[in-house]
Amino acid sequence: MLPIVDKPTIQYIIEEAVQSGIEDIIIVTGRNKRAIEDHFDKSIELELLLQRTGKQEMYKIVNDISTMVDIHYVRQKEPLGLGHAVLCAKKFIGHEPFAVLLGDDIVDSEVPALQQMIQKYNQVQAAILGCHEVPAADVTKYGIVQYDQCVNELYNVNRLVEKPSVKSAPSTQAIIGRYILPPEVFDLLEGVAPDKKGEIQLTDALDQILQYQSVYSYIIKGNRYDVGDKFGFLKASIEFALKRPELKDQLQLYLNQLVKNLRN
Ligand code: G1P
Repeated sequence: MLPIVDKPTIQYIIEEAVQSGIEDIIIVTGRNKRAIEDHFDKSIELELLLQRTGKQEMYKIVNDISTMVDIHYVRQKEPLGLGHAVLCAKKFIGHEPFAVLLGDDIVDSEVPALQQMIQKYNQVQAAILGCHEVPAADVTKYGIVQYDQCVNELYNVNRLVEKPSVKSAPSTQAIIGRYILPPEVFDLLEGVAPDKKGEIQLTDALDQILQYQSVYSYIIKGNRYDVGDKFGFLKASIEFALKRPELKDQLQLYLNQLVKNLRN
């Protein structure tokens, strides 16, 4: 729920999904479920007040939030890893392909990240992993892809490793929190053994699915921010604010002044 400029992080992600054509969203939450639910709920009193006082622009913002999409909530009772969080949504998804968007990864792009991936999915009808190239030293933070050929911007994945060491990483292509997955992944997740930290990794189930189905990786076009990381969060806040007409000039002046002061 941490805001970037004036919107909670999760709203950027929901907006990306909505702009990509997703109509039903399941949010797998932990402890702060109430705040998220309240944020996307209808605020009748506030909407009436904004209408009465002629604050049309604010009214539109508040109303858009609650009419954006159908959102359902599932609670992950214990923090047993990303694979387990995905498994919590199994009952609601059934036997259909679905997308997974992680709350810490925001992508700023002309075409929404998930929409880029759906376009690719429509060409191959197989799992698509949204990726970025990362510096070699950073492979330890991500699920890393081993691939062979690349056709039409889709890399054919032949192995996946969760957070490898720099030495053992098969490439520097990292999964950045966007997936389109087939429903079969649920059966595999049920059988995945927990890792050393007791977490069930989605990457491990996807590595297993390679025995039965093709999986492709795709380098998402756009700037990705890891807002779960302090510096990533600051970068996103500054860069998103610089894009806002009401803040741009003031912020630019302030940053220039700040840099000048730091140099002195
Ligand atoms: C998770 C996934 C990892 C992926 C990353 C993207 O890791 O397990 O494969 O690369 O998200 O942000 P986490 O950031 O939860 O440690």
